[in-house]
Amino acid sequence: MSYNDALDRIKQNIDIVDYIGKKVTLKRAGANYKGLCPFHGEKTPSFVVSPEKQIFTCFGCGESGDILKFTMRSENLDYREAMEKLAAEAGVELSSGGRKANEKKEELYEVSRQAARHFYKSLRNGDNPGIRYVISRGITPETAVRFGIGYAADSWNDMRDFLEKMEVSSNAAYDAGLLQKNEKGYYDKFRNRVIFPIFNTRDKIIGFGGRAIEKDAMPKYLNSPETLIFKKKDNLYGLNLAKSAIREQNLAIVVEGYMDVVSLAQAGVENVVASLGTALTSEQARLLKRYTDTVVLCYDTDNAGRAATLRGIDILLEAGLKVKVLQVTGGKDPDEFIKQQGKAAFDELLDSAVSFMQYKIDVAREKSDISTTEGAIRFLEEISGELKKIKSPAEQAAYVKQVSTLTGIPESSIEREIQGAKPSRGRTIYSEASGQQDGENARMEAEAVIDEKKRPTVRTLIRLMVSSASYIPIIKGTDELSSYFQGSGYEGILSAIFDIYSPDGEIDETALYDRLDDRDVGLLKEIMQNILPSGDDRKTLFDCVARIKEENLTEKRANIIKILEVMDEEKDIEENNRLLAELMDINSAISQLKARKEQLNE
Ligand code: UTP
Ligand code: MN
Repeated sequence: MSYNDALDRIKQNIDIVDYIGKKVTLKRAGANYKGLCPFHGEKTPSFVVSPEKQIFTCFGCGESGDILKFTMRSENLDYREAMEKLAAEAGVELSSGGRKANEKKEELYEVSRQAARHFYKSLRNGDNPGIRYVISRGITPETAVRFGIGYAADSWNDMRDFLEKMEVSSNAAYDAGLLQKNEKGYYDKFRNRVIFPIFNTRDKIIGFGGRAIEKDAMPKYLNSPETLIFKKKDNLYGLNLAKSAIREQNLAIVVEGYMDVVSLAQAGVENVVASLGTALTSEQARLLKRYTDTVVLCYDTDNAGRAATLRGIDILLEAGLKVKVLQVTGGKDPDEFIKQQGKAAFDELLDSAVSFMQYKIDVAREKSDISTTEGAIRFLEEISGELKKIKSPAEQAAYVKQVSTLTGIPESSIEREIQGAKPSRGRTIYSEASGQQDGENARMEAEAVIDEKKRPTVRTLIRLMVSSASYIPIIKGTDELSSYFQGSGYEGILSAIFDIYSPDGEIDETALYDRLDDRDVGLLKEIMQNILPSGDDRKTLFDCVARIKEENLTEKRANIIKILEVMDEEKDIEENNRLLAELMDINSAISQLKARKEQLNE
C-alpha cells in the first residue's frame, strides 16, 4: 500500500483525539477539545484538537496539522519513522501491503475476464432473450463482438455455478461485484440482462453494465458496484476502443449511455465515450486530456442533461480542454438519432456543435424571458460574469454584439455591465483560444475576491461582533446587511460568527478560528489587530448600517434608471409609472438617511 493510502487508513483507524489525549490532557470545548500546548510552554490552554477535521492547532505558537505531523513533532521523528510507528499502532501494513494489493487486483481482473467470457458465450448459445434483445436494438454481430457484449441468464446461480466450476472462490467473485450475498449465501448480481463489459484503457475488464430486457425491470441499467478495480469516476465507457480514433481526430465526443457509444461506433463514429451514467468527473476529464484537446459534450436535452452539460463544461475547461456542445434534435438520444438519420446527418450536427459560451448564452436565455425589460436585465446580469471571463477582446466583442442583438440593450451598456461584473460562478478564466482555459488564472480565481468597496464597513462590523457578541443578533437579523455581505469576500468569517453565536455569552475566539480555513484565519487576525474607530460602538454600528443602506439604495436606484433608459415607455406605461414611483421612494429614503446622519454628527 502506498504511503498516502496507508495514511488514509491510519486516520480511519486512529482517532486524533484519543491519540493526542494519551499525551495531553484534553477537555471538551464545544465541538472541539482543548489543552495545554505540548509544543510551547503555556499556562492557559490554546491548543485545540478538532475531532471533525482530525487536526490540531495551537493559537499560541501556530503549530497545526494532522496525526502524522503531531507524531513527527512530538516525538522528533522523520516522516518515514512516524509513518512506521503510526502504521504499527493502527495495524496497517506499509511495505508488503503493496504487493498484496496488486495480487488482489490481478485476481479480480482474472475473475472479471472469466465472467465476461461466460456472458459472451451465453449470448451466442442458441436462441435466447439476450440475443433477441441485441438484435431488436439493431446491434450487428460484428459490433457485439467488438464490444464484447454478452448475456446474463435469467437465473440466480448461473454465474455462481460457472465460477465455482472454474475454481474461482465465491468470495473473490463477490469482491469483483459479480455475486451478492444474503443469509442463505451467494447469488448472481446480473440476471436476465444484456451485458456491456467495461474496460480500462489497458484493455482489462473492470466492471459491467447490464441492460434490463424486461420492459419494467428496475433498474434499467444495473452497474457493477465500486470495487478494488472498478472506480467509476476514473473510467469512461468505450475509451479503450475509442482512444486511437480520439487521438487521430483530436476530438472526443462524450455521451450519456452505453447504447449511444455502441450505435455511434457501429455507424462509423468511433471517437465516442460515455461517462458511465454519472456526471463527468475531473478525473475523467484529465483522462481525456491524454488523447485530445477538444471535447464535444453530447448529453440528452432534458433538464438532467442540461445540468450535466453545464457542470461538464466547467470540469472540462478546468482540465484545460476546449469544449463544444452538440444537441441532438427532436428529443432523441444519439443512439436513436443515428439509427434514424444516419452518419451523414450526425456529422452535420457535429459540424454545427456550438461553443460552450454560446451554449451558456442559450441556456441563460431560456431561463429569463428577455422580451420583458426586467428579464433582459436579469439575463444580462447572469451572462456578463461569463463574458467577463473571455480574455480575447475580439471574441468578447462578438458575444457582446450577439447579446445586444438578442436583448436590444446597447453594446456600450453591456460593456459597462461586464466591467462592473465579477467573473462569477465557476473558477474558470478563458484565454485567447476559444475555450482554452488558463490554469494559473483559474487557481488565482479560486481565491475569493474581496470587494474593496465593502471592505472597511464589513471589517468594522466583524470587529464589533467579535468584541461584543450582543451586536451579532442585531446584525444577523438585518436583511439589508446579510445581502450586503454576499460577495464581500468575508462570507466565511461572517457565517462562522453567526453559527457560533449563542445568546448567553461572548464569542469563544478559539472556537471561531477553528471553524475557519487558512485564508479566513489570516483575514480575521488582520481585522482583529486593527483598532475600532474611536468613540461609541453603538454609533459606529449605526454609521455602518446607514452607509450600507445608502449604498444598497443607490445601487437599486442605478438599476431602475438602467431599466428606464432601455425601456420603451409608450409600450408599457403602467410598468414605467411603477418604476418612476419606486425611484421617487428611493430618493426620499436616501435623503432621510442623510438627514439622520447629520443630526447624529452634530
Ligand atoms: P438513459 O436512461 O438515458 O438510457 O440512461 P439510454 O442510454 O437511452 O438507454 P436505452 O437506449 O434505453 O437502452 C443513460 C445512461 O445512464 C446510465 C447508463 O449508463 C445509461 O446508459 N443509467 C441509466 C444507469 O446507470 N442506470 C439506470 O438505471 C439508468
Ligand atoms: Mn436510448
